[in-house]
Amino acid sequence: MARVLVVGSGGREHALAWALARSPHVDEIVCAPGNPGMAGLGECRPVAAADPAAVADLADHVGADLVVVGPEDPLVAGVADALRARGRLAFGPDAAAARLEGSKAFMKDVLVAAGVPTARHRTFRAGQEAEALAFLDTLPGPYVVKTDGLAAGKGVAVTGSIDEARAVVRSYLAGEAFGEAGRTCVVEEGLTGPEVSLFVLCDGTDAVPLAVAQDHKRAFDGDRGPNTGGMGAYTPVPFLPDGFVDEMLHAVIRPTLAELRRRDAQYRGVLFCGLMCTPDGPKVLEYNVRFGDPECQVIVPLLASDLFVHCREAAAGHIETPVVMRAEACVGIALAAQGYPPSPTRRGDVIEGLDAAAAVPGALVFHAGTRRDGDALVTDGGRVLTVVATGEGIRAARDRAYEAAGRISWPGLHYRRDIAAQALT
Ligand code: AMP
Ligand code: GLY
Repeated sequence: MARVLVVGSGGREHALAWALARSPHVDEIVCAPGNPGMAGLGECRPVAAADPAAVADLADHVGADLVVVGPEDPLVAGVADALRARGRLAFGPDAAAARLEGSKAFMKDVLVAAGVPTARHRTFRAGQEAEALAFLDTLPGPYVVKTDGLAAGKGVAVTGSIDEARAVVRSYLAGEAFGEAGRTCVVEEGLTGPEVSLFVLCDGTDAVPLAVAQDHKRAFDGDRGPNTGGMGAYTPVPFLPDGFVDEMLHAVIRPTLAELRRRDAQYRGVLFCGLMCTPDGPKVLEYNVRFGDPECQVIVPLLASDLFVHCREAAAGHIETPVVMRAEACVGIALAAQGYPPSPTRRGDVIEGLDAAAAVPGALVFHAGTRRDGDALVTDGGRVLTVVATGEGIRAARDRAYEAAGRISWPGLHYRRDIAAQALT
């Protein structure tokens, strides 16, 4: 029997811990640092997720047979390297491969070297403002400007206005908007089309597909309002052509992994490929080196095979067991605190109705921004919960997810009412 350490504290990590705990091979879950929902599955230890030595010490202390790393910051910081250096099995790429998400300039460089379709772009560094502005002039618009480094998901500006794009380039390169993260930036052509996320398991050599999901990044219905970490997701995505996933493995994922290997970067973990289905075919928008949040919460409930076995095999460098997904759909809705985004204005409100929500058939409630206050469970800001439900198809899953979400309340609670609506038309 195995002991699994789950690193992270969001809805994604709660979903991972939930799925890992269902494995007949797992008898203990430990979370670093975890959240009140994860506390129902295993012990939560107050260790900073992005501190490689602290996570490796904890893994040694508890004798973890496998460490599953949820968020990107620990991977970019080298948590997987630290674990492997101590002989521990880690699900998540080394820092060298995590640069796919940690540096957009690196990612673009890999894509170009691998011949993978992506938006036309160039990378500029502090001091190259004139060149960057001149490159903007060569683009037809809309314009996209991205910080090279991690910026908590907020470093991408998409605008139809060249004046605004110019102002963004200036503020990034000057270090005014995102500090060092923006002093190198990528300027690129804006693409159009539906966006989907492909998730594949990688074992350092090859990749097997898990699922395609669609996220809803804007805060409000109709894709309006500011960008968020994701207000809801669903899987599968019905409007993709037959053979889409195989085609993406062939044209995108395998060439990317081969190019990483050429650079001595080892990719063991889940690779999240953000694609835009443009009129000229699918193009890569971005790579993330982890599961999406809330995409993870809608993928793992449909997994009929054993997540622990998949993670252990990927971490050990040889995926063997076939991934089996149930032939159902799953829809997830992020329930957010008042004021999210950008910063939650309210915290500490008592959350009501969790048991009633979980009683809806097929429904699950994953915690993210929650906290215990005495006997009460209260909000702790941001995306507080993800409510998901499975069902025979998108419509059934969606009805159940909204039924469950409607049973939960706290002052200022808000969520989108149109998650997965696109999949029904
Ligand atoms: P990222 O932080 O790289 O995930 O980008 C955030 C979002 O910006 C993506 O999910 C897209 O919606 C949008 N985006 C990124 N690159 C482009 C592009 N070249 N054209 C249009 N939208 C883009
Ligand atoms: N939901 C998008 C992300 O996790 O990056």
